[in-house]
Amino acid sequence: MDIHVTLEGRRDLTGQIYRQLRAGIIEGRLAANARLPSTRDLATQLGVSRKTTLDVFERLIAEGFLTTRAGDGTFVAEGLTRLPTAPKEPSSAKARAAGIWSAMPQDMSIPLPVSGPAFAYDFKGGVTDKTLFPWDVWRRCINQGLRTQQRAGSGVGGYREPGGEQELRLGIARYLAFSRAVVCNWQDVVVTQGAQQALDLLARVVLQPGDTVALEEPGYPPARALFAALGAKIAHVPVDREGIVVERLPRNTRLVYVTPSHQFPLGMPMSLDRRIELLEWAKRRQAVIVEDDYDGEFRFEGRPVESLKSLDRAGLVAYVGTFSKTIFPDLRIGYVVPPASLSEPLWTAKRTGDWHSCMLTQTALGTFMLNGEFAKHLRRMHKAYAERRATLIGLLTGELADSFEPMPATAGIHLVARLAAPWQEDDVVNAAHGVSVGIYGIGGFYAGERREQGVLIGYGGANVETIRAGFSRLAELMPALRR
Ligand SMILES: Cc1ncc(COP(=O)(O)O)c(C=O)c1O
Repeated sequence: MDIHVTLEGRRDLTGQIYRQLRAGIIEGRLAANARLPSTRDLATQLGVSRKTTLDVFERLIAEGFLTTRAGDGTFVAEGLTRLPTAPKEPSSAKARAAGIWSAMPQDMSIPLPVSGPAFAYDFKGGVTDKTLFPWDVWRRCINQGLRTQQRAGSGVGGYREPGGEQELRLGIARYLAFSRAVVCNWQDVVVTQGAQQALDLLARVVLQPGDTVALEEPGYPPARALFAALGAKIAHVPVDREGIVVERLPRNTRLVYVTPSHQFPLGMPMSLDRRIELLEWAKRRQAVIVEDDYDGEFRFEGRPVESLKSLDRAGLVAYVGTFSKTIFPDLRIGYVVPPASLSEPLWTAKRTGDWHSCMLTQTALGTFMLNGEFAKHLRRMHKAYAERRATLIGLLTGELADSFEPMPATAGIHLVARLAAPWQEDDVVNAAHGVSVGIYGIGGFYAGERREQGVLIGYGGANVETIRAGFSRLAELMPALRR
């Protein structure tokens, strides 16, 4: 093992090495039982005399930091308590983050999962059912990806195309044309680290600090946090039954972020009239529209409304998609189909930020799509989620109809249920958590004052049995929570 020791000058070499090894052991960087190099090897590595390293080891052994095992070498001693270390730098020398970041934790308080289920019956949003994913097929796709990666030429300095791997972009373009009526060439697709990076890149190429970004209210907190972090002024624009209220958009808005297939979090699709109104407004104002189609592939009722992208004649809509809902969020793959005029800057922004997304995952996913496996997986998930949704709506409009009213949503893997008057969101959520039922209040999705009392119920990670059992517990609880 090479040990990292930095020597400054040639004075007090024994002391310098001693202090750094001792600090490494105390701070846990050198773990108990870790073998140290021989005094001879360490001396060669550091360019010091053997006597120097022997002196250091002897002292550390005498102090109990190191032990020797006959014929085997020198090791870090066991059972050393980790001592709190003194701050290395005076507090005045601390590197300071820009002020905006100290406000971020509140902005990012997303009632979305960050760890495994905390409740016996958990209805978190943003979770997909990994048990139904075809892992064996995926393993084959990954293996094929590894072979491709091994064979791939080194490209420019070993890096790949910033826009993404061709197979994946082709898979996405075909899927969009077939399922979402978004017609594009594969070259128009830029692969990103989830939808979140697509938003980040779009903001970087469109906005100057201080520009106004309009977001739906209630809306998606990670988008809010992202645009704010980049110095945008955020305008929270209310939604009604048809989607964002266009007449409430500030005149100087540079970018509008919307979720037209399945408004996040409330669920209603944006009406066709509203879509047209928004496009006309954007054309007059020369504002960019970001259409986040995050879970529209799971549509359960009615015929699909045209995407904003497919209705756009002015070249102002950037269409953003993700595999976080169709596969799982930790895949970290999303994409954007920008208006033609933003293509080049977006490509440059992606290259500037992180060169490109991981080749292996992209190649595997490209194979998964082009082989028809993605479509098969979507059909399987659609069937499972449709059954869960029907069960949930049945319960909410049946034995729980007194207290809950599901909001109209035609797509997605969560729904929001309004609470009727005698019930309060916080009471219901807390009491549910008390009996290990994870439902989540919608209050956190409002930047300003909330206008509805309700709960978000995700059914991506909860099967029909879980839904039945969880909601029967909830049904027993509700009468006692009337105010
Ligand atoms: C509105 C919305 N957009 C996008 C996403 C997905 O983001 P990402 O692709 O970065 O995981 C989610 C996930 O919950 C979401 O709710």
